[in-house]
Amino acid sequence: MEVARTRDALRAAGHRWREAGEKIAFVPTMGNLHAGHLSLVTAAAAEAPRVVVSIFVNPLQFAPGEDFDTYPRTLDADLEALSGIGVDVVFAPAVAEMYPTGPDPATRVRMTGLSDILCGRSRPGHFDGVTTVVAKLFNIVQPDSAIFGEKDYQQLAIIRRMVADLCFPVTVIGHPTQREADGLAMSSRNQYLTADERLLAPELHRTLEAAAAAVSASPEAEIAGRIVAIQQAAMDNLARFGFEPEYVEIRDAGTLAVPGEESRQLVILAAGRLGAARLIDNLRVDLI
Ligand code: PAJ
Repeated sequence: MEVARTRDALRAAGHRWREAGEKIAFVPTMGNLHAGHLSLVTAAAAEAPRVVVSIFVNPLQFAPGEDFDTYPRTLDADLEALSGIGVDVVFAPAVAEMYPTGPDPATRVRMTGLSDILCGRSRPGHFDGVTTVVAKLFNIVQPDSAIFGEKDYQQLAIIRRMVADLCFPVTVIGHPTQREADGLAMSSRNQYLTADERLLAPELHRTLEAAAAAVSASPEAEIAGRIVAIQQAAMDNLARFGFEPEYVEIRDAGTLAVPGEESRQLVILAAGRLGAARLIDNLRVDLI
């Protein structure tokens, strides 16, 4: 496994593979890897003979006052976790390597609509930072496919849309959320939780399951009318367990719009603060 610190080093490896006709699967991360990230890497290794993983804490997707400075950076442990599971190159650039013209690039990728709802409402500019860095990474790595977690459901929808809008020749693959035994979605930010908060944290997933059960139990003609009440009950439940809930929203799983009559596949998305941690999760509900 090679560690590339520069765009040139990464491109040299990619060039060799493309010459040999070998496809490249790519897993972008911000490091501090857990089993959720590693499951994406395993999926990438099954997808293509060459696998690139990037580790880059992207300043552009953190607002002032968010956790950019304190975000856990654990490169040595990450490299150890990635060795022996089929990774060819880890791309771990410095900030100046990714933003050679400075930390405030004049050219950015900004998506309207999808980037402004749900998490985009409480984190203005966040998804612009994500689309900008992922577009740059796609240009540098030039992968055939890229694997993203469904844990960040809105991010995955935004990347799919960006690839379609900007004609990137990249197949985007979504991968299921990996959970702890008690249902809590794995996340680097779980380590901000105190021991007591950690015991409460699975309530986010349980609340989504209860909301999904309420949707499934509703007669079809009544679902639209019940959505607001189900969302509110979920918000109230999170608050009862000590969360500061940000949103619980039932949306169309494909468009993330408020479900219409024709929506058969739904997703329930939630975000909330528990102590110092901002947690997100989501659950799909298919109407039959
Ligand atoms: P990061 O939070 O490090 O996540 C990297 C990838 O791992 C994302 O695709 C995310 O959805 C996935 N992931 C995280 N937790 C997961 C879990 N429990 N199960 C399955 N997949 C999980 O997301 C980012 O980084 C950044 O925004 C990035 C795309 C790298 C751009 O900077």
